[in-house]
Amino acid sequence: MMDRHRPIGIFDSGMGGISVLGEAIRMLPTENFIYYGDSANAPYGPKSKEEVTQLCEAICDHFVERQVKAIVIACNTATSAAAEYLRTKYTDIPVIGMEPALKPAVEMLDEGAVLVLATEMTLREEKFLNLCDRIAKEREVLKLACPSFVALVEEGITQGPEAERVIKDCLGGVDLSHVKAIVLGCTHFVFLRQAVANVVGSHVGIFDGNYGTVKHLLDLLEARGEHDMTKHEATIEIINSGGMPLVLQSQKLLNIYKPL
Ligand code: DGL
Repeated sequence: MMDRHRPIGIFDSGMGGISVLGEAIRMLPTENFIYYGDSANAPYGPKSKEEVTQLCEAICDHFVERQVKAIVIACNTATSAAAEYLRTKYTDIPVIGMEPALKPAVEMLDEGAVLVLATEMTLREEKFLNLCDRIAKEREVLKLACPSFVALVEEGITQGPEAERVIKDCLGGVDLSHVKAIVLGCTHFVFLRQAVANVVGSHVGIFDGNYGTVKHLLDLLEARGEHDMTKHEATIEIINSGGMPLVLQSQKLLNIYKPL
C-alpha cells in the first residue's frame, strides 16, 4: 500500500471516540480510517493505569498489523494512562493523544470558574494536574468525575429527559453560579453537549478537544508528507469489541455528530 493511502487508526474505550472520528472525517475527508471501540471493556475511567495501558497496547498492536500511518487515542483517559508508553513502543508512527480543552476555555474567560467534566482517572493523573498548573493558575478550576455520562452514551442515549436527569443529578453538588465555562474532558461527553447546555443554560461556554486533536493530526501528517489529498473513495471501518450491535450503534452516533 502506498504510504499516503495507509489508514489512520482511531480508538476509544467505546463510543466516545466516534465524536473524534466524526471531526476527522469532516476535516480530512480523503483519508481512510479504522475506528476501534472497546465497549466490551468500557468504562476505562475507574480501571487502573496498568489495566488501561494493556488494553490500549492490544488495540495499537492490531492497528500496527493493519499498517496504519498514525494512531489517535480518542480518549482522554487512555491518553493519561498510556500515551507515554505507547509513544516509546511505536516509534515509527505518530501517536496523537487528547487532553481536556482547558486552554481555549481559560482564554475565553475574563472572570468566573471553569468546570472540567471528565473521568476519575483523567482528573487524578499527573498529565491533567500539570495542565492546570501551566494554563489555569490564575483561574478557579472545578473538577467533576461523571461516570454516569459514559454509561448513558454507551447505551446510545444522548438527549431527552433521561439524559438531562442524569446530568442534573451529577451536577447537583456543584455551585454553578460562577461557572462560566464547561470543558467536556471525555470524548463520550461530546455527544451530550446539547443536553448539558439545556441543563446549565446558554450563558455557559462549552468546550471540547476534538478540533484541536484533529488539527494536530493533520499538522503531523503534513509535516511527514503523509497527508492523503488524492481524490479516492475514502473508507471508514468501525470495529467494536462488543460486537455488531455496537458497531451499528456507533454508526448512528457518527451520523448525529455535530462539530462545535
Ligand atoms: N471516552 C473516554 C475519555 O475520553 C473515557 C470513557 C471511559 O471511562 O471509558 O476519557
